Amino acid sequence: MKQTLLLLPGDGIGPEVIAAARQISELVAPDVELSEALVGGASLDASGVPLTDDVLEQAKTSDAVLLGAVGGPKWENAERDKRPEMGLLSLRKELDVFANLRPAFCFEALIGASTLKRDIVEGLDLMIVRELTSGVYFGEPRGIDTDENGVRRGYDTSIYTAPEIERVARVAFEIARGRNGRVCSVDKSNVMESGLFWRTEVSGLHEMGGEGVELTHMLADACAMELVRNPKQFDVILADNLFGDLLSDEASMLTGSIGMLPSASLGVEGTPGLFEPVHGSAPDIAGQNIANPCAAILSLEMALRWSLARPDAADRVMTAVAGALKAGARTNDLGGSLSTTDMTRAVIDQL
Ligand code: NAD
Ligand code: IPM
Ligand code: MN
Repeated sequence: MKQTLLLLPGDGIGPEVIAAARQISELVAPDVELSEALVGGASLDASGVPLTDDVLEQAKTSDAVLLGAVGGPKWENAERDKRPEMGLLSLRKELDVFANLRPAFCFEALIGASTLKRDIVEGLDLMIVRELTSGVYFGEPRGIDTDENGVRRGYDTSIYTAPEIERVARVAFEIARGRNGRVCSVDKSNVMESGLFWRTEVSGLHEMGGEGVELTHMLADACAMELVRNPKQFDVILADNLFGDLLSDEASMLTGSIGMLPSASLGVEGTPGLFEPVHGSAPDIAGQNIANPCAAILSLEMALRWSLARPDAADRVMTAVAGALKAGARTNDLGGSLSTTDMTRAVIDQL
């Protein structure tokens, strides 16, 4: 049976970077069947919702989904449940991709591109495992309304169940076993009940089945600081949905640019993974052919590795990106002047 990869370019620079990833896919895995559909603002414009049932069904029946980015100023005033970002959140929830892997890896050639000093980022290789389908992103009640005293208010609920914490912690432990065996779990257990519960559950799971894994805990604010002070102390960082979102944007700058950071969102075995760059739709540079396509190309690399079981093709992509960077290829965000298409060409030349 043919393997299928659904491309969801989305908005802003999404279509530009997904076009790059498509070219690479056609080269390294020509037999993978590609299809393309709308999500986010593009879907909202075309059909009134940011994710149609039809596209969701296509995603569920694909082997993997590669998404560009969603959102932008055009849709800022859209109704809450129709915002482009809701399309992405629904997709994550419906695919039940609860474990979001965000590797921060500093390519040798990019050591000088980071805003941090060379010796801080040289050889950096850490993995953030972010819970993706629960927490404050989805907790109820939430809303903007007026309380019984007539005072306006806005609120969200940060809530995690034990099984939700356990399943993502298990993934973090498993990933650590394939790396340096260290997991640092991050929370705000000093102020949040859900944070204290997170810490207790992760510790409990580690006692029951944490063989081969050294578990430590860190408060999320301290982790944000340690990430720029001494990021190489980390192997795997385990975080909830919100802290994982913040810390991964921060970690992206250790690698040179947010345009370099890919991600994989995985559910239970045998279900399609969702792969997407960590960056957004970058409205400030959209349509100019200057976005860095590497995060999207490396997200394809993760799809080949984690969902399509093609480690050889994934290795080829990784080597080609490293080779292009080594040869000096740089987009604007990395201090160079190559266009998106020329950067893609530089990677293709390596292949
Ligand atoms: P952003 O990641 O889109 O942009 C932040 C900065 O990084 C901008 O200066 C942008 O030009 C730059 N940048 C991002 N990707 C780049 C790339 N590939 N190459 C070069 N430079 C790049 O974040 P934002 O501006 O806060 O958000 C813009 C929109 O994107 C919002 O609507 C937000 O909700 C959405 N968003 C979507 C996703 C997603 O779809 N996964 C992720 C983050 C933000
Ligand atoms: C990300 C983004 C998303 C998130 C938004 C666009 C919903 O910032 O993937 O990091 O907050 O998860
Ligand atoms: Mn984010």
